[in-house]
Amino acid sequence: MGAFEERWRASLDDPEAFWLDAAQAIDWHTAPTRALEARPPFYRWFPDGELNVCANALDRHVDAGHGDRTALIYDSPVTGTVRSYSYTQLLDEVARFAGVLAGLGVGRGDRVVVYMPMVPEAAVAMLACARLGAVHSVVFGGFAPRELAVRIDDAAPVVVVSASCGIEGSRVLEYKPLLDKAMELAEHKPGKRVILQRPQAQAAMGPDDVDWAEAMATAEPAASVPVAATDPLYILYTSGTTGKPKGVVRDSGGYAVALAWTMANIYAVGPGETMFTASDVGWVVGHSYIVYAPLLVGATTILYEGKPVGTPDAGQFWRVAAEHGAKTMFTAPTAFRAIKKEDPKGALLGGYDLSGLRYLFLAGERLDPETYRWASDLLGIPVVDNWWQTETGWPICANPVGVEELPIKPGSPTVPMVGWDVRVVDGSGQPVPPNTDGAIVIKLPLAPGALPTLWNDDDRFIRSYLSAFKGYYLTGDGGRIDDDGYVYVMGRTDDVINVAGHRLSTGGMEEALASHPAVAECAVIGVADPLKGQVPRGLVVLKAGVDRPEEELRTELVALVRERIGAVASLRDVDVVAALPKTRSGKILRRTMRGIADGVEEPVPSTIESLDVLDALRPVLRRGD
Ligand code: COA
Ligand code: AMP
Repeated sequence: MGAFEERWRASLDDPEAFWLDAAQAIDWHTAPTRALEARPPFYRWFPDGELNVCANALDRHVDAGHGDRTALIYDSPVTGTVRSYSYTQLLDEVARFAGVLAGLGVGRGDRVVVYMPMVPEAAVAMLACARLGAVHSVVFGGFAPRELAVRIDDAAPVVVVSASCGIEGSRVLEYKPLLDKAMELAEHKPGKRVILQRPQAQAAMGPDDVDWAEAMATAEPAASVPVAATDPLYILYTSGTTGKPKGVVRDSGGYAVALAWTMANIYAVGPGETMFTASDVGWVVGHSYIVYAPLLVGATTILYEGKPVGTPDAGQFWRVAAEHGAKTMFTAPTAFRAIKKEDPKGALLGGYDLSGLRYLFLAGERLDPETYRWASDLLGIPVVDNWWQTETGWPICANPVGVEELPIKPGSPTVPMVGWDVRVVDGSGQPVPPNTDGAIVIKLPLAPGALPTLWNDDDRFIRSYLSAFKGYYLTGDGGRIDDDGYVYVMGRTDDVINVAGHRLSTGGMEEALASHPAVAECAVIGVADPLKGQVPRGLVVLKAGVDRPEEELRTELVALVRERIGAVASLRDVDVVAALPKTRSGKILRRTMRGIADGVEEPVPSTIESLDVLDALRPVLRRGD
């Protein structure tokens, strides 16, 4: 047995011993005496422990004499800014912003919605909530007001923190009008909004709006508040199969312990070393590996405001990694496909010294072997695929390079990490033999840091994840495990799609299309795309008697999805069709249509109502082959 396999087995055979030992990486207000409390199907980690995650991320490094170390580097080619914060400086900002929030009535357990672009103040706001024991819910800046409003209504925040604008490539995107619109749409009305005025756009302020800089100028620093390990640190909404997002709850203690474990054993970044995660604080990768994990271990994190290409060129990732001496870089495969498209030979790498870069980690969507090979040939370092979800908070599968570098098999995110008991089952829940495709499930309990439940919705938590196979968590991904225990994740088995590393619900887009007065019914499917992995395609059937030019309708429908969900939905392709193929019970055959569009047609279900309808659709679906 290899060194890692031994640890993995120990974590499953004796989780109490394994995780209590791992918990020593964290400073506890009250150290836990137990690791796991099981009340199936609910599990809680470190039930009697108390800690503050912000104090672990900041104060303890300062207290240990490392206040001068760099905590965060903000690198923003879109504004021409590079700014560093030492641990002492970041702690000062965070403590004062916690004071601002406290002054606005935010206390332990209260929610704060953060709708921010990639600026350091986003991380400051998150950590300030953690300091007070408040629960942040960051909403990705690419989401439209309606999506923001749905999240505000569900989280019921006391305060919303936002900024005057984000910068998307060369465009200044004003956030305040989007926030104002969301406030109109939301039923829940937060008391105050704190707005960071950026020089690129000044937001018009109302009576309930507080200026970030003004409030900070007079703020008193707030002390950290110890909370139960099982208290929520944040809620992060993610797409389910319907239009209603799921509020993934993250606990405090389990998450802190798990993240600290990953930094040493997966990402191989320790105190004083630098991690460059090019993602967005609106996604789970950003929560875990831009903000919390690097700071928990006293490392330096880079917060990059820019794109992989076009801000201004495809060499920015190399520049940032070289200039700030990153040891580990982490992003989504789609970002590398974008760079490859612009600079196929990697010529822009030439000018930069990347000798300090030891590993590239890629996650968020399947890492196709071609992108894997391109990145690994170009950089000449291990390229580590890692598979996880908003729900899990950290990798289910990865290559534990901090323990030992396992051989890489392109197309596989390697093996399950400690605490994860991953299985592949058939439709009736029976385990399948190695190398056989099926549903990927995880035997309960999930590892520390994984969602204990959905916000205010235990029933949906059980319904969505735990009811398909008793005792197992349904990942929603399909795939297989080979003879060496390597896991292959092939894609979602539900109606969730992954567009440029952004997880989106086709159900949500269908709701938007269906709201158009001319639409009788519709379907949205995710089809393969060489750059974004998948892109959505809409198919609509018009109401009887609607007689309007198709082009005009298409434009309206595309605009509608953009307005309702946001630009990230990237729905550009809508076809008007005569009918949609269905089973006899009326279920639309999305999977069959997706197969046809991707050129991997599967046998048509025997319950299909009308083969004619499907035959008529084939030419439309195959367009773009
Ligand atoms: N705020 C506002 N708008 C945003 C946004 C944000 N944070 N992020 C994206 N958008 C907008 C874009 O401006 C674009 O708008 P447009 O249709 O008006 O041009 C739209 O949403 C689609 O954006 P995107 O999916 O990012 O496509 P792109 O063509 O602009 O860029 C990539 C393609 C591959 C470069 C880009 O998707 C990328 O960097 N992906 C990496 C994603 C990632 O890191 N995911 C995290 C998981 S690890
Ligand atoms: P998110 O919750 O946004 O992180 O998206 C999670 C989903 O992205 C997973 O359920 C997978 O479908 C997909 N995903 C993430 N990482 C990988 C990976 N390394 N390989 C394959 N799919 C991935």
